[in-house]
Amino acid sequence: MNNKNISAKLAGEVSLGKELSVNRLGFGAMRLTGEGIWGPPKDKKAALAVLRRAIELEVNFIDTADSYGPHVSEDLIAEALFPYPKGLVIATKGGWNRPGPNQWTHDATPAHLRAAVEGSLKRLKLDRIDLYQLHTPDPVVPFEASVETLAELRNQGKIRLIALSNVTREHIERARKIVPIASVQNRYSFADREWDYVVDYCQKNGIAFIPWFPLGAGKVAGDVLNETARSKHASPKQVALAWLLRRSPVMLPIPGTSSVEHLEENVAAASVRLTNEEYDSLAEVPELVASR
Ligand SMILES: NC(=O)c1ccc[n+]([C@@H]2O[C@H](COP(=O)([O-])OP(=O)(O)OC[C@H]3O[C@@H](n4cnc5c(N)ncnc54)[C@H](OP(=O)(O)O)[C@@H]3O)[C@@H](O)[C@H]2O)c1
Repeated sequence: MNNKNISAKLAGEVSLGKELSVNRLGFGAMRLTGEGIWGPPKDKKAALAVLRRAIELEVNFIDTADSYGPHVSEDLIAEALFPYPKGLVIATKGGWNRPGPNQWTHDATPAHLRAAVEGSLKRLKLDRIDLYQLHTPDPVVPFEASVETLAELRNQGKIRLIALSNVTREHIERARKIVPIASVQNRYSFADREWDYVVDYCQKNGIAFIPWFPLGAGKVAGDVLNETARSKHASPKQVALAWLLRRSPVMLPIPGTSSVEHLEENVAAASVRLTNEEYDSLAEVPELVASR
């Protein structure tokens, strides 16, 4: 595909809390940090170039978190893109502490979340965060206490829309009794369908579903993917993304990369359309894996 024809717009749009609308292929900014999602990137210039290229390709939804780096991913977004283009939605998250590389420790206490939102506002140079996600429920903090804190921050005008990550349907239902939930972000791909029922619940209730690790595939999945990709003259990663886009109109994939070349390849998936047979053969992968 000619680079000029690559656009996230071709994936269509998804609504966030009936207030915002974004192109249905976003960008995950976790991989822009150093190894172990820790510290600065090896090549800062390249990381800034990826973010700027994403905007050129009409990506208008960027996912990040205070814990990526920590702080590095948010700082890079502000450095590359501030003042932000009109319509860009930056979705950040809070609820983890980072004692070191590859280490993540829960903290979704009200005090931590309040401080985390202040920190993200400052780093992202925003007066209000469009979409703030509870990164994960904290097993030692009542879930309602974390959600109520985000609702308070929303009432104070610091957050526009509230979202959840790494949750069950029960969590979403409990949270919705407190405040509207605009999106849910869980691990999901054609080969990894633990959260199928959450995708269905989100679709039924007009909640965007943001799959993380959208490009993941094991050996069996890889074989099916490669075969489909060969017959479509597309790349395996593009086929994995095209499957997600077709799975549900509320699906908002956020493939992450530190390379402009991979970014272009991923965004080009917005125009890859699968036939029914191709979609079904990929959908059957989890059963295929289970039967071996
Ligand atoms: N809510 C959560 O708990 C949670 C957890 C994990 C991630 N996330 C979010 O989800 C986003 C995506 O998840 P992820 O980064 O784990 O998984 P991913 O997007 O499925 O995979 C990223 C990996 O694939 C490689 N890659 C990307 N595009 C490629 C291409 N076209 N060809 C070959 N390799 C390619 C990247 O390496 P290169 O840099 O070399 O391209 C990177 O190693 C993250 O950025 C983050 O925003 C959220």
